[in-house]
Amino acid sequence: MTVALFGACEKVSAMTGGATAGSEVVLETSRLLLRPWRVAEAVVQRELWTERDPRVPPHRRINADGHPTVADLEESIRTKQLWSTGLLAVERKASRDVIGYCGLVDSGRGPEGEPELAFELLCRVWRQGYATEASLAVLDWARSSGYERLWATVWDWNTASRRVLAKVGFTETEREEVDAVHGTTLFTTRRL
Ligand SMILES: CC(C)(COP(=O)(O)OP(=O)(O)OC[C@H]1O[C@@H](n2cnc3c(N)ncnc32)[C@H](O)[C@@H]1OP(=O)(O)O)[C@@H](O)C(=O)NCCC(=O)NCCS
Repeated sequence: MTVALFGACEKVSAMTGGATAGSEVVLETSRLLLRPWRVAEAVVQRELWTERDPRVPPHRRINADGHPTVADLEESIRTKQLWSTGLLAVERKASRDVIGYCGLVDSGRGPEGEPELAFELLCRVWRQGYATEASLAVLDWARSSGYERLWATVWDWNTASRRVLAKVGFTETEREEVDAVHGTTLFTTRRL
């Protein structure tokens, strides 16, 4: 099956522009390493899927047949460039565990050459500043790769994500997409 990764996007492809394309990206912060996913870490991705808010659309939730399975996700790590050049695994340096992802994706929703910031972390590590810390590292990476502007989309009901985006300098635009069932997607942007 096709594994949808984040946001409300239908089409997600790896970020291939910039100086880091195709290389093994490793970003370091005081508490975190951001680096390509390893196949054995598919279990962490599966846990992220199981934890998603019920308001998230069905294509990003585990379906009635249990897909994506750990095997589906292993295959996606093995074959998808996205996991090595775009959405990086977030590893805690002290405990060496992977707690989610943060990175850039070309969702096709913004202008060419202006990718989206995306992040998702396991519930048990929320509210310790990890998403903010990881996002700031990704912003530095994007800037040094030559990007001049990023976008981020967020559900209007997602208070924590809106707060993270505000903390790292994104501002809300007038663009939004209204979905009567799942909520309104807000488009935010940040110049680098
Ligand atoms: C969004 C997410 C990545 C935030 O991760 P995190 O590591 O907890 O984020 P941080 O600790 O860096 O910052 C969270 C901020 O939101 C605030 N916050 C968290 N939950 C909140 C809530 N329910 N109401 C109000 N504020 C909230 C925190 O207080 C903090 O702000 P502060 O530093 O001003 O106190 C995490 O909640 C998550 O993975 N959510 C599910 C996936 C998701 O929504 N991804 C983004 C899609 S656009």
